[in-house]
Amino acid sequence: MSNILLLHGGVGIENSLVDNANRKLDSIAHSVIMGSDPLDAAVKAVVIMEDDPDFNAGTGSVMRIDGSIQMDASVAIPGRFGSVLAIESVKNPVLVARDVMELTPHTMLAGDGAVKFARMLGYHEHNPSTEKARNRLKTALDSLNDPKSESHSKYSKLMSRTDFATFLKDSCDTVGAVSRINDRFAAAVSTGGASPMLRGRIGDSPIFGSGIYVGEKGAVVATGIGEDISRRLLCFRIHEKIGTKPLQEIMEEEVGFFKDVIAGVIAVSADEHGYFANKGMGIGLKIENMD
Ligand code: GLY
Repeated sequence: MSNILLLHGGVGIENSLVDNANRKLDSIAHSVIMGSDPLDAAVKAVVIMEDDPDFNAGTGSVMRIDGSIQMDASVAIPGRFGSVLAIESVKNPVLVARDVMELTPHTMLAGDGAVKFARMLGYHEHNPSTEKARNRLKTALDSLNDPKSESHSKYSKLMSRTDFATFLKDSCDTVGAVSRINDRFAAAVSTGGASPMLRGRIGDSPIFGSGIYVGEKGAVVATGIGEDISRRLLCFRIHEKIGTKPLQEIMEEEVGFFKDVIAGVIAVSADEHGYFANKGMGIGLKIENMD
């Protein structure tokens, strides 16, 4: 059976940009040495994307409505999971998530506890903000039409279900990776979230079963509007259907559930791999044939 590393750079980009994104992600996938550990490969790919300011993860993460940056990241292998939620001022949240899984009895660490844990392990302070993120926040706030209003009124508008979806529509670009090496599965995800959003908001990416799932049948990660993906437990549902019909059909069926909400998934099973999104999504793929 072949070894596979499959990446996505986030759903939501214009279709005209997908070819460029594919080229970049393919080159990232090919730069990762597969080795023997599927988690090493998935995490390495996500670290490269976190360090690239073009992606909404790590450096380049989008901002909260108050101008702060809080990031979510997670990793999983069958039977094990680790994540950080709303972590701040670290360069590579996905590495901290892996440490949560491998070095603690916990599965999730949030906020200042996650930051303290990272500092304890020697992760230096890092400011992930970029001019692009600052401009993006300004555009989002301006689009509220009442930029001078009290902030609570902005919050209210954001929290109206319809407006929230509208504002998020073109601004979701989580990164993720799934891998199968020597018939073992792993997945890793990282995101700055879906801007504009309140400080403290958590998306699907660090929630097991929502934006990431790895089990005996495969590895699945999602991108899109975290609230909707979480309500649906999207990655768990896809994993549970693996083996009942072709993987591509399962992904199309599950993403098809999201009518007005952008969503995309990538997945690998024992003998298949695939991706599907209802809006532009860049993909990178590396396959090593073992036969
Ligand atoms: N899918 C990323 C998020 O909603 O935070």
